[in-house]
Amino acid sequence: MLLIAVISTCLTLGVLGFDQNRSDNIAIYWGQNSYGASFPNASGSQQNLGIYCQDSNINTIPIAFVDVFFGTGGVPVINLADSCQNATFPGTSLLNCGGLSGAISTCQENGIIVTISLGGGSSTVGFSSDSEAESFAETIWNTFLGGQSDTRPFGSAILDGVDLDIENGSPVGYTAFVNRIRVLSRDSVKKYYISAAPQCFFPDAYLGDTLNAVGFDMLYVQFYNNPECGLEHFNDPSIWNFDIWDSWAKQSPNPNIKIYIGAPASEYAAGTGYVSAPILGDIAAQTQHTFPSFGGRDVVGYVSGLR
Ligand SMILES: *[C@@H]1O[C@H](CO)[C@@H](O)[C@H](O)[C@H]1NC(C)=O
Ligand SMILES: *[C@@H]1O[C@H](CO)[C@@H](O)[C@H](O)[C@H]1NC(C)=O
Ligand SMILES: *[C@@H]1O[C@H](CO)[C@@H](O)[C@H](O)[C@H]1NC(C)=O
Repeated sequence: MLLIAVISTCLTLGVLGFDQNRSDNIAIYWGQNSYGASFPNASGSQQNLGIYCQDSNINTIPIAFVDVFFGTGGVPVINLADSCQNATFPGTSLLNCGGLSGAISTCQENGIIVTISLGGGSSTVGFSSDSEAESFAETIWNTFLGGQSDTRPFGSAILDGVDLDIENGSPVGYTAFVNRIRVLSRDSVKKYYISAAPQCFFPDAYLGDTLNAVGFDMLYVQFYNNPECGLEHFNDPSIWNFDIWDSWAKQSPNPNIKIYIGAPASEYAAGTGYVSAPILGDIAAQTQHTFPSFGGRDVVGYVSGLR
């Protein structure tokens, strides 16, 4: 519902697929069904991935989340709420969600990039050393991206990159992790994207150093659940801090990095930061004109009625 209204107030329509350099991209985090989990009988629950893959207004879909880095057997764990409750691979707690591979391919054929998001609000993540982080980068590469493994939750689908939504653990190792993913993908014809979802409070406690050390392609900054910098304060420049992110972007390791406004898709998807769809559309339009680094919007929580 929110997205319909957002789109109708959006200035530029008809984007086909993802273009990193545009300022009107829309990303949706898919997998957690946070609205449907709270209101199981209400309309508005998250729909099958394939539905969103048919929507030409959507450009990027991070699948959320790999919420445990080292689960049973040392293998990562994914949690997709009620979207995948299938069996796990033997000796692991990693769900086999091969039934999603078709939808992922459809997304990619339609130009939508699909990435794997690591972390989330309730997660067990983190590294004790750079070498552990490098080795985990190989695991992620083999499990979701261009490598090979017997335990690939999305079957033959090769995702388009990795997103870091790190909200727990420690800052150790993420620079080494990103560098290793870049090395592993260096010789690929396929482009692999690396994004992060820092809190708007600057600098981010877990990823601040990493963001200064290695180039990311885009940031889905969380302007929600953060009263000290959140979207609800857009009209107060002493609180709303997109300008700080924009200034940082220009002198960051990738000066072409795109910064997205991360917003809850409904008032139930986050504690604070929800603004109505027309207001979010207006904020996006104003930000698009003011800040060159603006890359678009991303929404978390449910989205429905995208037709
Ligand atoms: C995006 O812009 C940068 C900087 O101008 C350029 O190097 C890059 O090729 C562009 N990428 C695409 C996909 O157009
Ligand atoms: C949800 O729907 C089921 C089936 O109709 C019903 O048994 C249940 O009481 C409903 N729950 C709520 C919270 O309305
Ligand atoms: C779960 O398993 C069933 C039966 O094999 C399959 O049809 C379905 O697509 C799977 N779901 C996912 C999300 O992989």
